Amino acid sequence: MLNIKEVHSGYGKLKILRGINLNVPQGGVVALLGGNGTGKSTLLKTISGLVPVMEGSIEFDGQIISGKKPHEIVRSGLVQVTQSKEAYPAMTVEENLMLGAFTRSDSGGVRADLEKVYEFFPVLRQRRKVLSGTLSGGEVQMLVIGRGLMAKPKMLMLDEPSAALAPKVVLEIFSNIYKISQTGVTILIVEQNVRMALLLAQYAYIIRDGVIMIEGSAEDLINDSSVKDSFLGGTVANTKKSLNS
Ligand SMILES: Nc1ncnc2c1ncn2[C@@H]1O[C@H](COP(=O)(O)OP(=O)(O)O)[C@@H](O)[C@H]1O
Ligand SMILES: [Mg+2]
Repeated sequence: MLNIKEVHSGYGKLKILRGINLNVPQGGVVALLGGNGTGKSTLLKTISGLVPVMEGSIEFDGQIISGKKPHEIVRSGLVQVTQSKEAYPAMTVEENLMLGAFTRSDSGGVRADLEKVYEFFPVLRQRRKVLSGTLSGGEVQMLVIGRGLMAKPKMLMLDEPSAALAPKVVLEIFSNIYKISQTGVTILIVEQNVRMALLLAQYAYIIRDGVIMIEGSAEDLINDSSVKDSFLGGTVANTKKSLNS
């Protein structure tokens, strides 16, 4: 569904990504992993059209999207939830959710999708009339994912959804992302929580200094000793147990 070929990009003259190749199959969950400052957010912004492609091409859903404007890319069904968890604090939860539907004109479909978001995240329904500025970190994360869903995405890109959240909340967010993927939404997830990401995803890429260093099935990467040494403390089995509980 998403095919990235030999993409170079960056900021002004500063090149950050150097020849990225990455694929996300329709209906799949793919993880993009790597340390701080390695280019993960830059790649998502490049896919979204917020950072210009210098070389290479990006194809989504059968169309070349590199060179298109961000709102055209959103309209084609590719929606990014950014790392800075921006909800408008002086607007209510429901107003924030409705902002996600700004490219749509099917008001009946929008209402149905709002109902779906409230089914995924019951706490957002409870809080629909409160100002977003009063939400907890976990609730804001649910809100920004919900707002992404309001655009009716074919594919959702999530940038570190578990960052700075308590372990119990992280579990809840991941379990919701799993449920969203089960509804047929394709997902590309950027994470520092490598263990959780490898349990959720079928396939993963590890990026360092703007280059993909390792890629493979999540199962292979969980068992890869170099991945274990650099990223995985503790046991995967324990996390898997809690994710299924
Ligand atoms: N707007 C920007 N202008 C210039 N450099 C940037 C900008 N945003 C990020 N960078 C640089 O690009 C590199 C990759 O950043 P980023 O993609 O945010 O990494 P990650 O998401 O993996 O932590 C870093 O060296 C960062 O300093
Ligand atoms: Mg980042």
